[in-house]
Amino acid sequence: MAEANGSHSEPVFLIFGRSGWIGGLVGDYLKEKGAKFEYATARLEDRSAILADIERVKPTHVLNSAGLTGRPNVDWCETHKVETIRSNVIGCLNLADVCLAKGIHMLYYGTGCIFHYDEDFPMNSGKGFTEADKPNFTGSYYSYTKAMVESLLKEYPNVLTLRVRMPIVADLVYPRNFITKIIKYDKVVDIPNSMTVLPELIPLSIQMAERKLTGIMNFTNPGCISHNEILEMYKQYIDPEFTWSNFTLEEQAKVIVAPRSNNLLDTKRIQSEFPEILPIKESLIKYVFEPNAAKKEEVLAAVKEMRGR
Ligand SMILES: NC(=O)c1ccc[n+]([C@@H]2O[C@H](COP(=O)([O-])OP(=O)(O)OC[C@H]3O[C@@H](n4cnc5c(N)ncnc54)[C@H](OP(=O)(O)O)[C@@H]3O)[C@@H](O)[C@H]2O)c1
Repeated sequence: MAEANGSHSEPVFLIFGRSGWIGGLVGDYLKEKGAKFEYATARLEDRSAILADIERVKPTHVLNSAGLTGRPNVDWCETHKVETIRSNVIGCLNLADVCLAKGIHMLYYGTGCIFHYDEDFPMNSGKGFTEADKPNFTGSYYSYTKAMVESLLKEYPNVLTLRVRMPIVADLVYPRNFITKIIKYDKVVDIPNSMTVLPELIPLSIQMAERKLTGIMNFTNPGCISHNEILEMYKQYIDPEFTWSNFTLEEQAKVIVAPRSNNLLDTKRIQSEFPEILPIKESLIKYVFEPNAAKKEEVLAAVKEMRGR
Protein backbone atom coordinates (compact mmCIF):
# COMPACT_ATOMS: atom_id res chain seq x y z
CA MET A 1 0.00 0.00 0.00
CA ALA A 2 1.34 3.44 -0.94
CA GLU A 3 2.04 5.75 2.00
CA ALA A 4 0.14 9.03 1.92
CA ASN A 5 2.08 10.39 4.83
CA GLY A 6 5.32 8.48 4.57
CA SER A 7 7.30 11.36 6.03
CA HIS A 8 5.58 11.09 9.43
CA SER A 9 7.63 9.10 11.87
CA GLU A 10 4.91 9.43 14.49
CA PRO A 11 1.48 7.95 13.77
CA VAL A 12 -1.45 10.36 13.45
CA PHE A 13 -4.90 8.84 14.04
CA LEU A 14 -8.21 10.09 12.68
CA ILE A 15 -11.15 8.60 14.59
CA PHE A 16 -14.70 8.28 13.24
CA GLY A 17 -17.40 7.84 15.89
CA ARG A 18 -16.63 10.64 18.35
CA SER A 19 -19.94 10.48 20.19
CA GLY A 20 -19.95 6.68 20.30
CA TRP A 21 -18.99 4.35 23.11
CA ILE A 22 -15.99 2.67 21.48
CA GLY A 23 -14.90 5.87 19.69
CA GLY A 24 -14.86 7.67 23.04
CA LEU A 25 -12.80 4.92 24.68
CA VAL A 26 -10.33 4.83 21.78
CA GLY A 27 -9.82 8.61 22.06
CA ASP A 28 -9.38 8.35 25.84
CA TYR A 29 -6.74 5.68 25.35
CA LEU A 30 -4.83 7.62 22.68
CA LYS A 31 -4.92 10.71 24.89
CA GLU A 32 -3.57 8.74 27.85
CA LYS A 33 -0.85 7.30 25.61
CA GLY A 34 0.11 10.79 24.41
CA ALA A 35 -0.57 9.84 20.77
CA LYS A 36 -1.51 12.34 18.08
CA PHE A 37 -5.16 12.05 17.10
CA GLU A 38 -8.21 13.99 16.01
CA TYR A 39 -11.87 13.13 15.69
CA ALA A 40 -13.49 13.29 12.25
CA THR A 41 -16.42 15.62 11.69
CA ALA A 42 -17.64 13.99 8.44
CA ARG A 43 -20.62 11.69 8.08
CA LEU A 44 -19.43 8.35 6.67
CA GLU A 45 -21.47 8.66 3.49
CA ASP A 46 -20.13 12.14 2.63
CA ARG A 47 -17.05 11.59 0.50
CA SER A 48 -16.06 15.23 0.15
CA ALA A 49 -16.37 15.83 3.90
CA ILE A 50 -14.16 12.78 4.56
CA LEU A 51 -11.58 14.14 2.14
CA ALA A 52 -11.69 17.48 3.96
CA ASP A 53 -11.10 15.71 7.31
CA ILE A 54 -8.14 13.85 5.81
CA GLU A 55 -6.74 17.07 4.36
CA ARG A 56 -7.11 18.79 7.76
CA VAL A 57 -5.65 16.03 9.97
CA LYS A 58 -3.27 14.28 7.53
CA PRO A 59 -3.68 10.94 9.30
CA THR A 60 -1.38 7.98 8.93
CA HIS A 61 -4.20 5.80 10.32
CA VAL A 62 -8.00 5.95 10.26
CA LEU A 63 -9.90 4.25 13.08
CA ASN A 64 -13.53 3.65 12.20
CA SER A 65 -15.76 3.11 15.20
CA ALA A 66 -18.77 4.74 13.52
CA GLY A 67 -21.86 2.78 12.62
CA LEU A 68 -25.48 2.33 13.53
CA THR A 69 -26.02 0.06 16.48
CA GLY A 70 -29.66 1.00 17.23
CA ARG A 71 -31.29 2.49 20.32
CA PRO A 72 -32.26 1.15 22.77
CA ASN A 73 -30.79 -1.87 20.99
CA VAL A 74 -30.26 -3.50 17.58
CA ASP A 75 -34.00 -4.16 17.23
CA TRP A 76 -34.20 -0.52 16.05
CA CYS A 77 -32.45 -1.54 12.81
CA GLU A 78 -35.37 -3.85 11.91
CA THR A 79 -37.57 -0.81 11.32
CA HIS A 80 -34.84 1.54 10.00
CA LYS A 81 -33.29 -0.56 7.26
CA VAL A 82 -32.32 2.21 4.85
CA GLU A 83 -30.59 4.24 7.59
CA THR A 84 -28.79 1.07 8.66
CA ILE A 85 -27.60 0.36 5.10
CA ARG A 86 -26.51 3.99 4.67
CA SER A 87 -24.20 3.98 7.69
CA ASN A 88 -23.15 0.36 8.05
CA VAL A 89 -22.69 -0.54 4.40
CA ILE A 90 -22.50 2.52 2.13
CA GLY A 91 -20.81 4.75 4.70
CA CYS A 92 -18.31 2.18 5.90
CA LEU A 93 -17.32 1.19 2.34
CA ASN A 94 -17.11 4.84 1.34
CA LEU A 95 -14.60 5.54 4.11
CA ALA A 96 -12.54 2.43 3.25
CA ASP A 97 -12.55 3.45 -0.40
CA VAL A 98 -11.38 7.02 0.30
CA CYS A 99 -8.65 5.65 2.60
CA LEU A 100 -7.48 3.27 -0.14
CA ALA A 101 -7.32 6.11 -2.65
CA LYS A 102 -5.25 8.12 -0.16
CA GLY A 103 -3.01 5.19 0.81
CA ILE A 104 -4.18 5.17 4.45
CA HIS A 105 -4.73 2.14 6.65
CA MET A 106 -8.26 1.82 8.09
CA LEU A 107 -9.07 -0.20 11.17
CA TYR A 108 -12.77 -0.95 11.53
CA TYR A 109 -14.48 -1.90 14.80
CA GLY A 110 -17.05 -4.32 13.36
CA THR A 111 -18.84 -7.18 15.03
CA GLY A 112 -18.55 -10.91 15.63
CA CYS A 113 -22.33 -11.15 16.03
CA ILE A 114 -22.52 -12.65 12.54
CA PHE A 115 -22.16 -16.28 13.65
CA HIS A 116 -24.22 -18.67 15.68
CA TYR A 117 -23.74 -22.18 16.98
CA ASP A 118 -24.97 -24.85 14.59
CA GLU A 119 -24.39 -28.52 13.76
CA ASP A 120 -20.89 -27.81 12.42
CA PHE A 121 -19.99 -25.52 15.33
CA PRO A 122 -21.86 -26.94 18.32
CA MET A 123 -22.03 -25.10 21.62
CA ASN A 124 -19.50 -26.37 24.22
CA SER A 125 -17.49 -28.22 21.53
CA GLY A 126 -14.54 -25.84 21.77
CA LYS A 127 -14.65 -25.37 18.00
CA GLY A 128 -14.66 -21.66 17.22
CA PHE A 129 -15.44 -19.75 14.04
CA THR A 130 -12.22 -18.64 12.35
CA GLU A 131 -11.56 -15.47 10.38
CA ALA A 132 -11.95 -17.53 7.20
CA ASP A 133 -15.41 -18.84 8.09
CA LYS A 134 -18.38 -17.35 6.31
CA PRO A 135 -20.96 -15.61 8.52
CA ASN A 136 -23.92 -17.90 9.23
CA PHE A 137 -26.05 -15.50 11.29
CA THR A 138 -28.11 -12.87 9.54
CA GLY A 139 -31.12 -13.21 11.81
CA SER A 140 -31.13 -9.50 12.69
CA TYR A 141 -30.91 -6.72 10.12
CA TYR A 142 -27.97 -5.23 12.06
CA SER A 143 -26.00 -8.48 11.73
CA TYR A 144 -27.06 -8.85 8.11
CA THR A 145 -25.53 -5.47 7.17
CA LYS A 146 -22.42 -6.16 9.25
CA ALA A 147 -21.83 -9.56 7.60
CA MET A 148 -22.31 -8.00 4.19
CA VAL A 149 -19.88 -5.15 4.80
CA GLU A 150 -17.28 -7.52 6.27
CA SER A 151 -17.33 -9.67 3.14
CA LEU A 152 -16.94 -6.59 0.91
CA LEU A 153 -14.28 -4.93 3.07
CA LYS A 154 -12.04 -7.97 2.94
CA GLU A 155 -11.27 -7.10 -0.70
CA TYR A 156 -9.71 -3.81 0.48
CA PRO A 157 -5.94 -4.27 0.98
CA ASN A 158 -5.79 -1.32 3.42
CA VAL A 159 -8.44 -2.52 5.90
CA LEU A 160 -8.50 -4.57 9.09
CA THR A 161 -11.98 -5.53 10.31
CA LEU A 162 -12.23 -6.37 14.00
CA ARG A 163 -14.98 -8.71 15.12
CA VAL A 164 -16.00 -7.20 18.47
CA ARG A 165 -18.38 -9.20 20.70
CA MET A 166 -20.43 -8.35 23.78
CA PRO A 167 -18.04 -5.58 24.84
CA ILE A 168 -17.23 -5.26 28.54
CA VAL A 169 -15.81 -2.38 30.59
CA ALA A 170 -15.14 -2.00 34.32
CA ASP A 171 -18.02 0.44 34.96
CA LEU A 172 -20.79 -1.87 36.18
CA VAL A 173 -23.54 0.75 35.80
CA TYR A 174 -22.66 1.83 32.25
CA PRO A 175 -25.77 0.78 30.27
CA ARG A 176 -23.93 -0.55 27.18
CA ASN A 177 -21.62 -2.78 29.24
CA PHE A 178 -22.63 -6.42 28.70
CA ILE A 179 -22.24 -7.13 32.44
CA THR A 180 -24.48 -4.17 33.37
CA LYS A 181 -27.14 -5.47 30.99
CA ILE A 182 -27.23 -8.94 32.51
CA ILE A 183 -27.17 -7.60 36.08
CA LYS A 184 -30.18 -5.43 35.20
CA TYR A 185 -32.36 -7.82 33.21
CA ASP A 186 -35.11 -9.65 35.07
CA LYS A 187 -34.19 -12.87 33.31
CA VAL A 188 -31.12 -13.94 31.38
CA VAL A 189 -30.31 -16.80 29.03
CA ASP A 190 -27.26 -18.86 29.94
CA ILE A 191 -25.08 -19.44 26.88
CA PRO A 192 -21.28 -19.49 26.54
CA ASN A 193 -20.03 -16.68 24.29
CA SER A 194 -16.83 -15.03 23.14
CA MET A 195 -16.49 -11.53 24.57
CA THR A 196 -14.30 -8.44 24.24
CA VAL A 197 -12.82 -6.91 27.40
CA LEU A 198 -12.31 -3.39 26.05
CA PRO A 199 -9.73 -2.05 28.55
CA GLU A 200 -7.42 -4.91 27.59
CA LEU A 201 -8.20 -5.06 23.86
CA ILE A 202 -8.48 -1.40 22.80
CA PRO A 203 -4.72 -0.89 23.34
CA LEU A 204 -4.10 -4.01 21.23
CA SER A 205 -6.26 -2.57 18.44
CA ILE A 206 -4.00 0.49 18.26
CA GLN A 207 -0.98 -1.78 17.94
CA MET A 208 -2.78 -3.66 15.14
CA ALA A 209 -3.29 -0.35 13.32
CA GLU A 210 0.37 0.57 13.85
CA ARG A 211 1.41 -2.84 12.49
CA LYS A 212 -0.96 -2.22 9.54
CA LEU A 213 -2.56 -5.63 9.85
CA THR A 214 -5.23 -6.32 7.26
CA GLY A 215 -8.09 -8.74 6.65
CA ILE A 216 -10.28 -9.91 9.50
CA MET A 217 -9.44 -10.38 13.18
CA ASN A 218 -11.59 -12.13 15.77
CA PHE A 219 -11.28 -9.41 18.41
CA THR A 220 -12.18 -11.27 21.59
CA ASN A 221 -10.38 -12.70 24.57
CA PRO A 222 -9.58 -16.41 24.17
CA GLY A 223 -12.26 -18.85 25.32
CA CYS A 224 -15.85 -18.22 26.18
CA ILE A 225 -17.92 -17.55 29.27
CA SER A 226 -21.62 -17.97 29.99
CA HIS A 227 -24.04 -15.45 31.45
CA ASN A 228 -24.31 -17.47 34.67
CA GLU A 229 -20.55 -17.74 35.03
CA ILE A 230 -20.26 -13.94 34.85
CA LEU A 231 -23.07 -13.48 37.37
CA GLU A 232 -21.36 -16.01 39.67
CA MET A 233 -18.21 -13.88 39.47
CA TYR A 234 -20.26 -10.77 40.27
CA LYS A 235 -21.67 -12.59 43.29
CA GLN A 236 -18.23 -13.76 44.40
CA TYR A 237 -16.44 -10.41 44.04
CA ILE A 238 -19.16 -7.82 44.67
CA ASP A 239 -22.50 -8.98 46.06
CA PRO A 240 -22.85 -12.35 47.81
CA GLU A 241 -26.62 -11.81 48.04
CA PHE A 242 -27.13 -11.34 44.31
CA THR A 243 -29.74 -13.63 42.73
CA TRP A 244 -31.07 -13.96 39.20
CA SER A 245 -33.30 -16.15 37.07
CA ASN A 246 -32.70 -17.79 33.75
CA PHE A 247 -34.97 -18.30 30.79
CA THR A 248 -34.63 -20.25 27.58
CA LEU A 249 -33.87 -18.89 24.12
CA GLU A 250 -37.53 -19.53 23.23
CA GLU A 251 -38.69 -17.43 26.19
CA GLN A 252 -36.14 -14.74 25.35
CA ALA A 253 -37.49 -14.59 21.77
CA LYS A 254 -40.80 -13.30 23.16
CA VAL A 255 -39.21 -10.12 24.60
CA ILE A 256 -36.96 -9.17 21.68
CA VAL A 257 -37.78 -8.45 18.03
CA ALA A 258 -34.78 -9.95 16.21
CA PRO A 259 -32.85 -13.04 17.29
CA ARG A 260 -29.41 -12.53 18.87
CA SER A 261 -26.24 -14.39 17.96
CA ASN A 262 -24.38 -16.70 20.34
CA ASN A 263 -21.00 -18.06 19.38
CA LEU A 264 -17.40 -18.96 20.12
CA LEU A 265 -14.77 -17.25 17.95
CA ASP A 266 -11.41 -18.86 17.29
CA THR A 267 -8.62 -16.65 18.66
CA LYS A 268 -5.48 -18.16 17.12
CA ARG A 269 -4.82 -15.06 15.01
CA ILE A 270 -5.04 -12.53 17.86
CA GLN A 271 -3.01 -14.85 20.13
CA SER A 272 -0.30 -15.16 17.51
CA GLU A 273 -0.03 -11.35 17.35
CA PHE A 274 -0.34 -10.86 21.12
CA PRO A 275 0.67 -14.00 23.03
CA GLU A 276 0.14 -12.08 26.29
CA ILE A 277 -3.65 -11.68 25.74
CA LEU A 278 -5.56 -13.02 28.76
CA PRO A 279 -8.20 -15.76 28.57
CA ILE A 280 -11.66 -14.28 29.12
CA LYS A 281 -12.05 -15.25 32.79
CA GLU A 282 -8.61 -13.94 33.76
CA SER A 283 -9.22 -10.73 31.85
CA LEU A 284 -12.53 -10.20 33.64
CA ILE A 285 -10.86 -10.69 37.01
CA LYS A 286 -8.00 -8.31 36.21
CA TYR A 287 -9.89 -5.55 34.38
CA VAL A 288 -13.37 -5.72 35.93
CA PHE A 289 -13.88 -7.66 39.13
CA GLU A 290 -10.70 -6.93 41.10
CA PRO A 291 -10.84 -3.15 40.50
CA ASN A 292 -14.53 -3.14 41.47
CA ALA A 293 -13.95 -5.34 44.52
CA ALA A 294 -11.43 -2.73 45.74
CA LYS A 295 -14.34 -0.23 46.05
CA LYS A 296 -17.08 -2.75 46.73
CA GLU A 297 -19.39 -0.57 48.89
CA GLU A 298 -19.48 2.23 46.33
CA VAL A 299 -20.09 -0.20 43.45
CA LEU A 300 -22.79 -2.07 45.32
CA ALA A 301 -24.65 1.15 46.13
CA ALA A 302 -24.50 2.29 42.49
CA VAL A 303 -25.70 -1.08 41.17
CA LYS A 304 -28.56 -1.22 43.69
CA GLU A 305 -29.64 2.29 42.71
CA MET A 306 -29.51 1.32 39.02
CA ARG A 307 -31.63 -1.78 39.63
CA GLY A 308 -34.07 0.28 41.70
CA ARG A 309 -33.93 -2.04 44.66
N1 LIG B 1 -21.62 -1.82 21.56
C1 LIG B 1 -21.73 -3.08 21.22
O1 LIG B 1 -22.38 -3.90 21.91
C2 LIG B 1 -20.98 -3.59 20.02
C3 LIG B 1 -20.79 -4.94 19.91
C4 LIG B 1 -20.10 -5.42 18.84
C5 LIG B 1 -19.65 -4.54 17.87
N2 LIG B 1 -19.87 -3.21 17.96
C6 LIG B 1 -19.44 -2.36 16.85
O2 LIG B 1 -18.48 -1.41 17.25
C7 LIG B 1 -18.67 -0.18 16.54
C8 LIG B 1 -18.84 0.95 17.53
O3 LIG B 1 -19.90 0.62 18.41
P1 LIG B 1 -20.38 1.59 19.58
O4 LIG B 1 -21.02 0.73 20.59
O5 LIG B 1 -19.29 2.52 19.97
O6 LIG B 1 -21.52 2.40 18.80
P2 LIG B 1 -22.32 3.69 19.28
O7 LIG B 1 -22.05 4.02 20.71
O8 LIG B 1 -23.74 3.47 18.85
O9 LIG B 1 -21.68 4.85 18.40
C9 LIG B 1 -21.77 4.84 17.04
C10 LIG B 1 -21.06 6.05 16.51
O10 LIG B 1 -21.17 6.01 15.09
C11 LIG B 1 -21.55 7.31 14.65
N3 LIG B 1 -22.24 7.17 13.38
C12 LIG B 1 -23.30 6.38 13.07
N4 LIG B 1 -23.62 6.52 11.78
C13 LIG B 1 -22.74 7.42 11.27
C14 LIG B 1 -22.53 7.98 9.98
N5 LIG B 1 -23.31 7.64 8.97
N6 LIG B 1 -21.53 8.86 9.82
C15 LIG B 1 -20.72 9.22 10.85
N7 LIG B 1 -20.86 8.73 12.09
C16 LIG B 1 -21.87 7.83 12.29
C17 LIG B 1 -22.41 7.87 15.74
O11 LIG B 1 -22.50 9.26 15.64
P3 LIG B 1 -23.91 10.03 15.64
O12 LIG B 1 -24.51 9.75 16.96
O13 LIG B 1 -23.51 11.43 15.39
O14 LIG B 1 -24.70 9.41 14.49
C18 LIG B 1 -21.63 7.40 16.97
O15 LIG B 1 -20.58 8.30 17.23
C19 LIG B 1 -19.89 -0.41 15.63
O16 LIG B 1 -19.46 -0.78 14.35
C20 LIG B 1 -20.59 -1.57 16.28
O17 LIG B 1 -21.33 -2.30 15.35
C21 LIG B 1 -20.51 -2.71 19.04
